Amino acid sequence: MTADEKKKLAAYAALEYVEAGSVIGVGTGSTVNHFIDAIAEKMKGSVEAAVSSSEASSKRMKQHGIPVIDLNSAGELSIYVDGADESNHHLHLIKGGGGALTREKIVAAASKTFVCIADDTKLVDVLGEFPLPVEVIPMARSLVTRELVKLGGQPVWRENFVTDNGNIILDVHNLQIMDPLKLETQINQMAGVVTVGIFAHRPADILLLGGEDGVKAVKA
Ligand code: A5P
Repeated sequence: MTADEKKKLAAYAALEYVEAGSVIGVGTGSTVNHFIDAIAEKMKGSVEAAVSSSEASSKRMKQHGIPVIDLNSAGELSIYVDGADESNHHLHLIKGGGGALTREKIVAAASKTFVCIADDTKLVDVLGEFPLPVEVIPMARSLVTRELVKLGGQPVWRENFVTDNGNIILDVHNLQIMDPLKLETQINQMAGVVTVGIFAHRPADILLLGGEDGVKAVKA
């Protein structure tokens, strides 16, 4: 079974958590693309609208005829469905491989339940093998790079990439994230950082992992 087939399994399993008539939060990435397609195939008409975490997901939903609304007119969302680059057993995540981390963190914060969908290779004991994305205001690139080096990481500028918010991404290699809550706070406090891709203060509530034997639901 390919990673993409596993992602698709997890994405379709997430439909169970979607209430008819609700406004849902939708993340970004290849796993979420399967979820958007699943909504269009199985639940179109019964989802009132979606709040999107990226221009890419908005575009895909609009193509399917799923209404996309602004978070400011939505209030609290019952559910947020998104992928991840890594999850530990506490459902602390690394996100932002697709560069949409800031809006993802906002929509996750506005949602009652965060359902994370992924293939089973994303579950790890310690976060950090996947380079940690950090969204940074462009003029602070060198400053934040120096600060991240002081933490023991090796930041690499994601060249030729601009976020939906007009900022840049630094991917921080060589981190072993033993205390995700602490590191999330530390990096968030650096001047010039918009968002760090650690989702520990607002972790996922349920992790649906697609694998050879079907879908396994993990709770923290
Ligand atoms: C987007 O910025 C990311 O946070 C994605 O959720 C993450 O990279 C997972 O992507 P895939 O579903 O493509 O693996």
